[in-house]
Amino acid sequence: MTTPSTAELYRDYVMPTYGRFDLALARGEGARVWDEAGKSYLDFGAGIAVCSLGHAHPKLAKELAAQATTLIHTSNLYLTRPQGELAKLIVDLVGLGGKVFFCNSGAEANEGLYKLARKFGAPTGRHEIITFTNSFHGRTLGGISATGQEKVKTGFAPLVEGFVHVPFNDLPAVEAAITPKTVAILVEPVQGEGGINPATPEFLKGLQALCDRHNLLLLFDEVQCGFGRTGDWCAWRTIVSSGVEPDAVSWAKGIAGGVPLGAFWAGIRTAGPDSEGKDRGLLCNLLGPGTHGTTYGGNPFAAIAGLTVLSTIQEEGILENVRTLGTYLIQSLKDLNLPAIRLVRGVGLMIGIELNDLSGEGLPSIIATKALMSAGLLVIPSGDRTIRLLPPLNITKGEADQALAILKEVLSTLLPC
Ligand SMILES: Cc1ncc(COP(=O)(O)O)c(C=O)c1O
Repeated sequence: MTTPSTAELYRDYVMPTYGRFDLALARGEGARVWDEAGKSYLDFGAGIAVCSLGHAHPKLAKELAAQATTLIHTSNLYLTRPQGELAKLIVDLVGLGGKVFFCNSGAEANEGLYKLARKFGAPTGRHEIITFTNSFHGRTLGGISATGQEKVKTGFAPLVEGFVHVPFNDLPAVEAAITPKTVAILVEPVQGEGGINPATPEFLKGLQALCDRHNLLLLFDEVQCGFGRTGDWCAWRTIVSSGVEPDAVSWAKGIAGGVPLGAFWAGIRTAGPDSEGKDRGLLCNLLGPGTHGTTYGGNPFAAIAGLTVLSTIQEEGILENVRTLGTYLIQSLKDLNLPAIRLVRGVGLMIGIELNDLSGEGLPSIIATKALMSAGLLVIPSGDRTIRLLPPLNITKGEADQALAILKEVLSTLLPC
């Protein structure tokens, strides 16, 4: 009997929920990964914006090994030092006071935001959350209901009630959508899955003003764009340096460099009175004992990963690297002036390349992703015609130049002048 290949194991035993590429990865180091045959690739997808420090980062590996031989998991019935320290670090980085809840993924972090908003609005009978066209908030039933893309909802009716979608960066549309039932506005400061669409400064400021005027919660989904990806700890601050203060924010992906960890933070605004007129205290204390939870969330192993990733970004000046190389990559891509490239958008190392029609079978995003993969560069497709560059935050200029050279070569072939 022959040993099945990895592709055969997937074909026979793993649910076919993904249109996976025919590439079995075996190991990684820094910004490089190797397939089972030993071929190397420059990884400008980083596990979809997850491996912030690249692969097999020595410090992260060392801290994880030490934690694995000390204490991996305890449940949230008890206290563990790494979770407490990580919560403090996140509160310090956000800089607005408040508290953090830990979970395991982005969809789950957003579930916390929906529940926080429902609880906040309950005494006034408000529960509707405004979200945006082309947004993505995860694959749970709540997540697909919140997401402003029809394709994720198909076949799963009835969806969770109470999400209203309006066009992104369209303030009058948001204002028109606010009703006596509205309790919150949830937005990605930079849309990721929707194709790398940054919110405008006017839009974020306008959302803040609407939330202030109507007593709504301003919720940011920073699952993809947060914790350094845009060159700041908080993506919204790369768009507006002051005057916008969300009430709650969700994260996952890059927060722990690949160890599953999600989190959401809530601030110190007052939660308002309950239905009997009694003060409910601060928003960050609204989800009290018994209202929310998870077995794994923020266990010592995941929390050590988060602490190591965030403190390494801090200590090694990685935010500056993101800003410098992000600007360099975006400008260099524009300067290529290739017929294949319709538009380059992005902030920091969150870059979208919108493509024109390319020669070959299928969608431009998939044609390009496959051709780049053959040439040794991994990128992430987004929708029909955008590819995303989401490399590790600590890539070097040399690696950026290698990626640019491959992009130039491959995209010139796919649509010659
Ligand atoms: C902005 C945003 N929110 C939520 C999610 C869902 O995160 P997860 O896949 O960890 O559940 C994603 C995933 O791509 C995302 O980009």
